Amino acid sequence: MEKRGMWSSRLTFILAAIGSAVGLGNAWRFPGLAAKHGGGTFLVVYLLAMLLMGIPLLMMEIAIARKFRRGAIESMRGIGKKWEPVGWAATSNAFVIVCYYAVVFAWVILMFINSWQFANMTGDNEAASGLFLQLTQTTGAIEGTNIPGIVLVCLLISWGLIFYCIRNGASSVGKVVKFTVFAPVVLLLIMAVKGCTMPGAMEGIKMLFVPDISAFSDPSLWVDAIGQVFYSLSIMMAIMFAYGSYVGNDADIAADAMIIAFSDMAVSVLSGIVMFSTMGGTGMLGEITASGISTAFFVYPTAIVNLTGNGVVNAIFGAIFYLMLITLAIDSAFSIVEGISAAIADKFHLKPKTVTIAVCAICGIISLVFITEAGLAWLDIVDNWTNQINLILIGVLECIAIGWTFSLRKVLGEVNKNAKRFKMPYWWFASSINLSRRCCSLVCSSGT
Ligand code: PFF
Repeated sequence: MEKRGMWSSRLTFILAAIGSAVGLGNAWRFPGLAAKHGGGTFLVVYLLAMLLMGIPLLMMEIAIARKFRRGAIESMRGIGKKWEPVGWAATSNAFVIVCYYAVVFAWVILMFINSWQFANMTGDNEAASGLFLQLTQTTGAIEGTNIPGIVLVCLLISWGLIFYCIRNGASSVGKVVKFTVFAPVVLLLIMAVKGCTMPGAMEGIKMLFVPDISAFSDPSLWVDAIGQVFYSLSIMMAIMFAYGSYVGNDADIAADAMIIAFSDMAVSVLSGIVMFSTMGGTGMLGEITASGISTAFFVYPTAIVNLTGNGVVNAIFGAIFYLMLITLAIDSAFSIVEGISAAIADKFHLKPKTVTIAVCAICGIISLVFITEAGLAWLDIVDNWTNQINLILIGVLECIAIGWTFSLRKVLGEVNKNAKRFKMPYWWFASSINLSRRCCSLVCSSGT
């Protein structure tokens, strides 16, 4: 068998994991959910879910994968033979997710290439919000099989970039993330400065940070917050198993997971500031929707053409926005392919590179469905299915597997193996795993 690739340094692992965690979910899913659940209210519950469930589960996935030095399927099998299907569930969920995530990535590339068109649309809301539909020819209904050539080209670019970044596993990923982690933060900061200096921006910022007490009683708030924490940390998707399996024995998992989770949270809040201030500044606060796709491709373009009276400046900000989304999406997209490849290669003792090629080819073909005229409608259905209930269900099963059949103390020992300044306390870890199991079971049994 080939020697397992390892991260070249601690920093490389942290950056790769942050790159995976920080993705389109931060840029549009987080602000969209915050708008749906009373801004600050969502922020509070999200923070709680992150501390109580997200961080301990992230540590757990990395620690188990390091212990067994295997991807999701074989790591879950390492816990107990009967838990192997949980690894398969995470891997197959990832398989479905990447098929449409690559398409969203392609759409972002398409909008970036076409952002010059905003220069001729100053104040023309109809043209701006219609640009995406005009380019993709997607109808939102489940009918039509036409594929526009330009979208196909963007999809090929998207898969080409994904494959290029992971062609040599951990070693090629390590090189790319040094750029893809920092670039979106710089671009977001530029946009935050623009957003916050617009008159009316403060109204948006207030909406993001001030909690609406009445919204706390809505049970869907909790489901959305837990789902978003899992999604945002890239857990329950086979990714952190793969990345954890390349971590060195001397790694301080407790501290590294904290850095990853807090960086992810910081970027979500920064994206929230960009979105809410810009929408406040353009008088469009009421239009942020829970659907990220609609925010990014219909609502935000409208904001872009109303940013200033100068078309060229607007087009530049449009290009910055879509470039920011490209740099956010790429390292999440390749991380999920890496998660699938590592799981399959380890399971069947195959060459990782061969599996990566096969995964890109098969998912590439399936992803064609999402660029047809009916693509957006399919994407909506599949996205709801994979990201709410599936992630949470896999979460329960992982917690049951670890909490009941394996020893929590053993996992915690692995987490704290090289802990220096921060040691994960047993009470936090154990109560989180138990709480996650209970909350997730409750959410699944309520059928939401
Ligand atoms: N953490 C990623 C995000 O917030 O966008 C989640 C993700 C989704 C990773 C899809 C990878 C992926 F293909």
